[in-house]
Amino acid sequence: MALKTVRSVAELRAAVAAWRRAGESVGLVPTMGALHRGHISLVEAARTHCRRSIATIFVNPKQFGPREDFARYPRQEEQDRTLLDAVGCDLLFAPPLSEMYAEGFATTVSLVGVTDRWEGEARPGHFAGVATVVTKLLLQAMADKAFFGEKDYQQLQSVKRMVRDLDIPVEIVGCPTVRDADGLALSSRNAYLSETERKVAPALYRAITGVAAAAREGHDLDATIEAATAALLKAGFAAVDYLALVDAATLAPLATLDRPGRVLAAAKLGAVRLIDNVAAIPR
Ligand code: PAF
Repeated sequence: MALKTVRSVAELRAAVAAWRRAGESVGLVPTMGALHRGHISLVEAARTHCRRSIATIFVNPKQFGPREDFARYPRQEEQDRTLLDAVGCDLLFAPPLSEMYAEGFATTVSLVGVTDRWEGEARPGHFAGVATVVTKLLLQAMADKAFFGEKDYQQLQSVKRMVRDLDIPVEIVGCPTVRDADGLALSSRNAYLSETERKVAPALYRAITGVAAAAREGHDLDATIEAATAALLKAGFAAVDYLALVDAATLAPLATLDRPGRVLAAAKLGAVRLIDNVAAIPR
């Protein structure tokens, strides 16, 4: 296996320093593991843009709420390493908890505005956990570019905002969501879906694409969202946390599609909470 694994920040920095001395550019792909084709597409993007690619695997406790799935989040490093090796990733950084949050760790990075609504409202503390760990990973690796999926659209916009605000010298590259043939966005949490739930799950993609098309056609947005919500509940979803048209950059709600927008949704299917989004492009 060509893929090298390091567990300490010192080893990570030594590897990056050697590449820098050789004049090689570096791309970073932060993940929490349980890798699927979506993650692999990020590594492929890193390999296209940069001479060297680093993937990180760290299941970050700070971004999970007390009643969320931190304990049972899938951990499968051996399998992940095989996938990373096959795609030609150069380095895996998989630190233990103590390397990331040493005794006495006392710092939190948090944003306002872009994180206020949607996932921020549904999952208090989540984005502070993400921002804190992503800041650390970016500063640890000091890569030229870092790659994030559009699947977690609010996370992507928050990371872009944070990097601008804090002058972190890295370019954030957003990469398209990878979907199964029936439209379901790939996610590590899809593994929790039962066979029946898996069949129902693509209704979420149909709902958001329907809302994006209706917004573009200038149809009554409230009525469209109400009908799409009813269709999701009828299909078997237990609850729709939100389904909304928002400004693509600020994520503030939009009443009409008068600028680039995004349709965001989160809905519960059994015990699984799915999120998804698509672009809404004005005529
Ligand atoms: O998107 C994820 O997997 C995580 O939120 C990230 C960016 C790796 C931070 O833990």
